[in-house]
Amino acid sequence: MTRKIILDSDPGIDDAMAILFAEANSTIDLMAITTVYGNAMIENATNNALFLKKKFNLKADIVKGASKPITKTPVGPTVIVHGETGFGDMLIPKQDEALIDSRPAYQYIIDMVKENPGEITLVAIGPLTNLALALKAAPEIVNLVKEVVIMGGAFGENGHRGNVTPYAEANIHDDPHVADAVFCAPWPVVIIGLDVTQQSFFSTDYLKSLCDQSNEVGEFMWQVNQYYLQFYSKKLNLDGCFVHDPSAIAYVINPDLFTLRKGAVRVVTEGPAEAMTIQKLDDIRYPHDEWSDMPSQQVGIAVKDTELLDLFRQDIIDYANNKV
Ligand code: BDR
Ligand code: CA
Repeated sequence: MTRKIILDSDPGIDDAMAILFAEANSTIDLMAITTVYGNAMIENATNNALFLKKKFNLKADIVKGASKPITKTPVGPTVIVHGETGFGDMLIPKQDEALIDSRPAYQYIIDMVKENPGEITLVAIGPLTNLALALKAAPEIVNLVKEVVIMGGAFGENGHRGNVTPYAEANIHDDPHVADAVFCAPWPVVIIGLDVTQQSFFSTDYLKSLCDQSNEVGEFMWQVNQYYLQFYSKKLNLDGCFVHDPSAIAYVINPDLFTLRKGAVRVVTEGPAEAMTIQKLDDIRYPHDEWSDMPSQQVGIAVKDTELLDLFRQDIIDYANNKV
């Protein structure tokens, strides 16, 4: 049986890799890409999603979402990592906007979840603004969603605490208040944060060899990754990149790749630790405990990285070669 997902994304170079991974895997039914600001302005993020739909003939609906955080002053696009328009230095032509669904992303999410009760997994790989807007407008969806899988946050496991501040990960830092609302809602959330995404690594050699075996899919992935790889090389002195957004898709395909830890999760919304994600472990009791009534969520703390890389490679190669 296939698993229906709505992929909420800010494309974004690693978002593009995640979108193609979801499309490539036969157990996933990629129903829609709902876009959000983050790596790029919302217009560019949506244009990039439309570009992927056209280039790879995706059946997924493309739905435009939030252009800015709800509470916080916008941080602005991550140009240094993803380029001016989100896809590095690739020049993406302006796409036909008539293909965009007429609803705002949050409304699309509500409608789809209600039409498919218990069946839809929301996978969010950008700031959580669309999910929070959906929750606010229709809180009852918490009982209708199958699972919420999020790439975001960092809990200090394996030494990973932040990538945009010493204590904050980019997607949560863009809109910490909404992230807190999403984690505190009584729906089942799995958080695939830096604790695990920075434990898997696409070396430049891995990417080159994969791209060489994957026709036009590989050609696009290689081209779009050039800017990203340069950032990693120049700023982090690494010959390759971490596997952020594709890790959330890997979790949906095969949860056994990850070890999860249960407990309520909160987000710090101000101060020097703004956007820090913290978890209280379920089985520990305290005399003073404001967390005791909070829903227990799951946080990824370990990953079988070699198996994850093998899964990604095989899915992309099979997809690319069946296409020709
Ligand atoms: C996350 O931030 C974005 O730059 C990436 O696309 C990913 O979703 C990693 O911190
Ligand atoms: Ca992203």
